[in-house]
Formats: sequence, C-alpha cells, structure tokens
Amino acid sequence: MKNILVTGASGNIGSRLIEHLRGKELNVKAGLRNIEKSKTIGGDNVELVEFDYDRPETFKNAFSGIDKLFIVPPMVPDFKQRFRAAIESAKKAGIKYIAKLSVSGADSTSENTFQKMHGEVEEIVRNSHIAHVTINPVEFYQNYSNFYSASIKNEGKIYLPQGKSVKSMIDVDDIAAAFAVVLTENGHEGKMYNAAAYDYTNPEIAEIFTKELGKPVEYIDVPEEAARNEMQNHNMPEWFINAMMQLHYAWKQGWMVAPHEDLFSLIKKNPKTFNEFVKENAGAFK
Ligand SMILES: NC(=O)c1ccc[n+]([C@@H]2O[C@H](COP(=O)([O-])OP(=O)(O)OC[C@H]3O[C@@H](n4cnc5c(N)ncnc54)[C@H](OP(=O)(O)O)[C@@H]3O)[C@@H](O)[C@H]2O)c1
Repeated sequence: MKNILVTGASGNIGSRLIEHLRGKELNVKAGLRNIEKSKTIGGDNVELVEFDYDRPETFKNAFSGIDKLFIVPPMVPDFKQRFRAAIESAKKAGIKYIAKLSVSGADSTSENTFQKMHGEVEEIVRNSHIAHVTINPVEFYQNYSNFYSASIKNEGKIYLPQGKSVKSMIDVDDIAAAFAVVLTENGHEGKMYNAAAYDYTNPEIAEIFTKELGKPVEYIDVPEEAARNEMQNHNMPEWFINAMMQLHYAWKQGWMVAPHEDLFSLIKKNPKTFNEFVKENAGAFK
C-alpha cells in the first residue's frame, strides 16, 4: 500500500486533496503546522503529522515511510532555503515521487514575484532528481470568496484593477481532484499539466453573481493606484502588494489564459463552472 504525505493539509487545495484520498487503499499523512487546529481532518486512512518548513526538526518524522509527497509552496519571502532543506530530507527518507502545485508561467528568472518563487522551488525539485509531476493552476474561483467577498456582500460591487479581459479560472476542488489522479495513477512522472476549467471576464463574473445571488452585482475596474492604496491601507507588506499588482496587470493584459484539455484528461468529467461555485458558496456573498 502506498504512503502519501499531503503538506499544507489545512489549506484550500490540501484539505480537499485529503478528501479525494480518504477511504482509498492508501496511507495518508496530513502534514500540518498546528495539529490541534485541524484535528477533524484525521480518521479513516488519514493520520495527522506535524510538518513545518520553519521547524526542520519536523521533517524526519513527517517523511518517514512516505513514498509520495504533495507540495503546496507557501508564498513567503526567502522560502527557497527552507524548501531546499526539506527536499534534502525527503530524499534521505527515500521519497520517490513529488507532486507539486505551481502556477502558469513559473520561471526562476521571471520578473513576476509569484512566478519566480514557484520557478525557484521547481528548480530545487528538478535538481533533487526525485521523480515529479507539476500542475499549474490558473486563478482560483475561491479568490472571490477568500478575498473579494466583503464588497460583494455589503455593496454589490467587485473592485479590481483587472480591466475587462478574459481570464482562465478553476475551482480548487478540481485542482485537488487532478492531484489525486497524479498521486494514485502511474505514468505522470516528468509531466507538467495546466489546470484551467473555463474562461471568464470580470463583467461576466458580475453577471453570474447577479443571477445566482438574486441581487445586482457590478464590476468596477479600479485604477491601479487606487488598488495599491487600498492594500496599503490594510497594512499588507510591500513585496506582497507589488506581487499582486504584477498579477493584476497580467490579468488586465489578457495574458492569463491557459488551455483546458489537460484538466479534462486528468479528472475525466466537466469541471465546476463559476455559476456552480457561486451557488454552493452563496452564503459567503449574501
Ligand atoms: N490563488 C490563486 O488564484 C492561485 C493560482 C495559482 C497558483 N496559486 C498557488 O497556490 C498556492 C496556494 O494554495 P492554497 O490556496 O491551497 O494555499 P492556502 O490555502 O493558503 O494553504 C497554504 C497551506 O500551507 C501551509 N503553510 C503555510 N506556511 C507553512 C510552513 N511554514 N510550513 C508548512 N506549511 C505551511 C498552511 O498551513 P496553516 O493552515 O498552518 O497556515 C496551509 O495549509 C500558492 O503557492 C499560490 O502561488 C494560487
């Protein structure tokens, strides 16, 4: 029986991946920084284990007996060194396969912060010579519930500096489903897959909210300076504000469109639409 460690098991994708692996003929370890906070994840074939990149002393126990590793790199500055130490430890522990969450356009030489961070992590995985597979998702539908829901709920407005270009999007549960496939089936070593479900513009997204919530929701294409000021007013760190502004700019230019075929070939069903996402999460926006 295979043994899989899911790091970031309390996160958007990690928590859903655990559910896709639950009950299968596998031993699953859910890697958590704080076990007390996420106790309900355990049970069935899922065991909880401490895993924290900031506490290398957690690596040995977390990696012990593991064949396959799921990685969701936290987007924090100076992550590279901590990640390198973790991969060295994974190699020593005999881990044979890594499934890594990345992002479209990941490249260690990119001028865009998130693409650069993911590119650096990928280089470390490649240099480890452990077999690996990478999945590059486009924008999560859940950004609208995790980050933009307050103004939708309180004012019926989506304020973003993203223009009106089309962008590819996906539900995190479909990303998790794709990872469950590459972690449980053979033949994905060395592959890199796009994970994109459908394309939408922000005005279309506002129309979908209007229809599914039964109240008017409008998209406001805000100037970049206003978006930057808003993040500064929320005391977000400057590096993160810059990284987000780079992303918004790419969305505005219509650069964030990815092919859809890979996702369909992995999950073998139609992925969730944005309408379905809004219906399922209506409580977050009303
Ligand atoms: N949002 C998007 O549209 C989008 C699109 C493409 C790619 N991505 C990529 O997706 C990733 C985010 O995925 P997500 O939404 O699933 O993340 P998430 O919900 O923010 O979860 C991050 C997970 O990592 C854990 N974590 C944070 N710091 C850690 C540390 N030092 N050691 C061990 N674990 C740690 C968190 O644990 P705690 O619960 O303890 O904090 C949490 O379980 C990023 O790499 C991002 O670049 C995002």
